Amino acid sequence: MKAKTKFVCTACGYEVPKWMGKCPGCNAWNTLEEEIIRTERKSAGSAPAASATPLRLSSVDTSDQQRFSCGIRELDRVLGGGIVRGSLILVGGDPGIGKSTLLLQLAGHLDKQASLLYVSGEESEKQLKLRADRLQEKEAEYLVLTETDITVIRAAVESVKPDVLIIDSIQTMYHPDVSSAPGSVSQVREVTLSLMRYAKETGTAIFIVGHVTKDGAIAGPKVLEHMVDSVLYFEGERNHSYRVLRAVKNRFGSTNEIGVFEMTGAGLREVENPSSMLLEGRPDSAPGSAVVCTMEGTRPVLAEIQALLCTSSFGVPRRMATGIDYNRVNLMIAVLEKRVGLNLQNQDAYVNIVGGIRLDEPAVDLALALSIASAFRSTPIDSHLAAIGEIGLTGELRAVSQMERRLAEVEKLGFKACLIPQANVKNLQIPKGLRILPAQNITEALGFVL
Ligand code: TYD
Ligand code: MG
Repeated sequence: MKAKTKFVCTACGYEVPKWMGKCPGCNAWNTLEEEIIRTERKSAGSAPAASATPLRLSSVDTSDQQRFSCGIRELDRVLGGGIVRGSLILVGGDPGIGKSTLLLQLAGHLDKQASLLYVSGEESEKQLKLRADRLQEKEAEYLVLTETDITVIRAAVESVKPDVLIIDSIQTMYHPDVSSAPGSVSQVREVTLSLMRYAKETGTAIFIVGHVTKDGAIAGPKVLEHMVDSVLYFEGERNHSYRVLRAVKNRFGSTNEIGVFEMTGAGLREVENPSSMLLEGRPDSAPGSAVVCTMEGTRPVLAEIQALLCTSSFGVPRRMATGIDYNRVNLMIAVLEKRVGLNLQNQDAYVNIVGGIRLDEPAVDLALALSIASAFRSTPIDSHLAAIGEIGLTGELRAVSQMERRLAEVEKLGFKACLIPQANVKNLQIPKGLRILPAQNITEALGFVL
């Protein structure tokens, strides 16, 4: 009998019975890949339990569910306060961004009481040792294994019973029962499923490394997101040394927290004060530069927005935005044109957030508008002034949340004044030494600085 097959999108995991050129799920072209439907799924895991008894939730013992610190503060923070036993954590990111480095450092920092096994399908033991030496880990006491067959790995794991297991990377692992190549959707799913069962049965915390690829040739971590407890993405610009670890899903904590690292010659270094790192080397009294305080989770972070404007030589002006939403930039240009009367329609505009971070919050609007206006008028903004506020379509300044924490950070970094929305002023605790400039709308705000 002919084996039954289905077609699975390598980009989003959508399944269809017949081949199609375009995936109905994510509209990507040529991403559907044939897979054999296996009716017997037992072979992949342990035999089914003889009986299943529902439990009263209140009687479930959670005393052994506590977290433990992984020894790297920034990583603990992103995980929501440490590693939860039995959790499955996906660490995704572009190849070469530093995932293996981060997890090898985790292995070196983990408390002596917790045992760890690092399984690599990408490097030999020698290479791992060389890398650990480069990271200047004092004594690499953890166990390593180079293997790609998940059944062999499981047998090894069951004999050493580590508290933490690291699988680097999911795309190199395979299950011998699945015929498709390592890295295909079905392999990646099957291996993850096997790891998930093991994590839940034994309370082992498992980190899975997943490379993100643009072309969709290898099943990206997207297809795994629903299977794991936490999804962390390691991001950064290749030519910047700063790396940001972000949680996009976390069953055991908030998804707003970020961890900031710097890639150095001896591995990743934690950055305790991202604000001073992002403001390092800021030009003094240069037109087009403005400073904002954005909230990254519970942490206020100062960032510099830079804008450059010049007269366009074509009919349609060029607009470019790095680190900030392109449409937001266009919107602010429209507001400045219509509500303030700046003649920007024949101006090319380039906006950049310094340091390779991304600003997604509406509270950055005011600083964005100020940087554009300052670039247009070739007038610098006082370098001791920061600006916080959302701008509406009529040019009004709207209140933003957590103003006090933001102001405290602004003051801490040595700023003397801060522009804020009038609506935020009521009952506001203002840090000593900081002058507050409240404004109703963008025109008023511009009056203060330019
Ligand atoms: P790696 O952790 O191998 O990336 P991934 O596992 O995400 O593919 O990181 C590789 C990059 O990091 C490589 O380009 C070199 C750089 N690097 C340093 O700059 N310093 C270091 O100490 C190490 C170990 C790597
Ligand atoms: Mg790697």
